[in-house]
Amino acid sequence: MKERLQKIMAQAGIASRRKAEELIKTGCVTVDGQTVTKLGTTVDSSVSLIRVAGTPLRMENKVYILLYKPKGYVTTLCDEFNRPKVTDLLHGVRERVFPVGRLDYDTEGLLLLTNDGDYTNELIHPKFKIPKVYIAKLKDRVEPEKITLLRNGIRLEDGWTKPARVVVMKQTSAFTVLRITIYEGKKRQLKRMADAVGHPIMELKRIQFGPYSLDQMQKGQWQYVKRLQIMKEDSPQRHKGAEKY
Ligand code: URA
Repeated sequence: MKERLQKIMAQAGIASRRKAEELIKTGCVTVDGQTVTKLGTTVDSSVSLIRVAGTPLRMENKVYILLYKPKGYVTTLCDEFNRPKVTDLLHGVRERVFPVGRLDYDTEGLLLLTNDGDYTNELIHPKFKIPKVYIAKLKDRVEPEKITLLRNGIRLEDGWTKPARVVVMKQTSAFTVLRITIYEGKKRQLKRMADAVGHPIMELKRIQFGPYSLDQMQKGQWQYVKRLQIMKEDSPQRHKGAEKY
């Protein structure tokens, strides 16, 4: 039976449907040796050989992996500059897993990888408002008005950011360390928010992603984990008064 290519990829656990579409568009998917970039292409997976970044697609057990991503690794499966990939760190993992969401090349911290496309969809879908918690070191002392802007929402070129929780952990004249919780995942979101208030990010680390946290893990270390229930947490309201900390 013929089905849409991105649906077959999601069922095989290669990626969420959205991610599968990205992989198709960027030319990472071949069907019987031919690169397919047209979305909506239908394929009979029992007849045709589908490869993603060169690896044949096959059905697998669902696995969930937590990785403490060090700086210097990309979370994409197919990188145009051939930089080290987070999956290079997963020695001995036979299943073909993919990162849930992204972390920049120079960001470290918690990354969940799985071959469960449905779970990935839930975790990255904006309607579930999955909390992502970061420790960010920003340049210079960030004044309270700027903290309020970060909390309430910043206008970026692709729209307003949603309300965030922001707690000041440490401040000197040279830097400010913030614990920031966001409930969405725009590209380079925190760096762009920090730039917008004039305090570029010097270091960024994710310590929590939905129900998963970094705890005692060491950089580069990974472990299998269970599929955890997604917490339904309300995000703070826009224009709420200053948060106490
Ligand atoms: N925000 C960023 O700017 N970069 C990341 O890697 C994650 C969140």
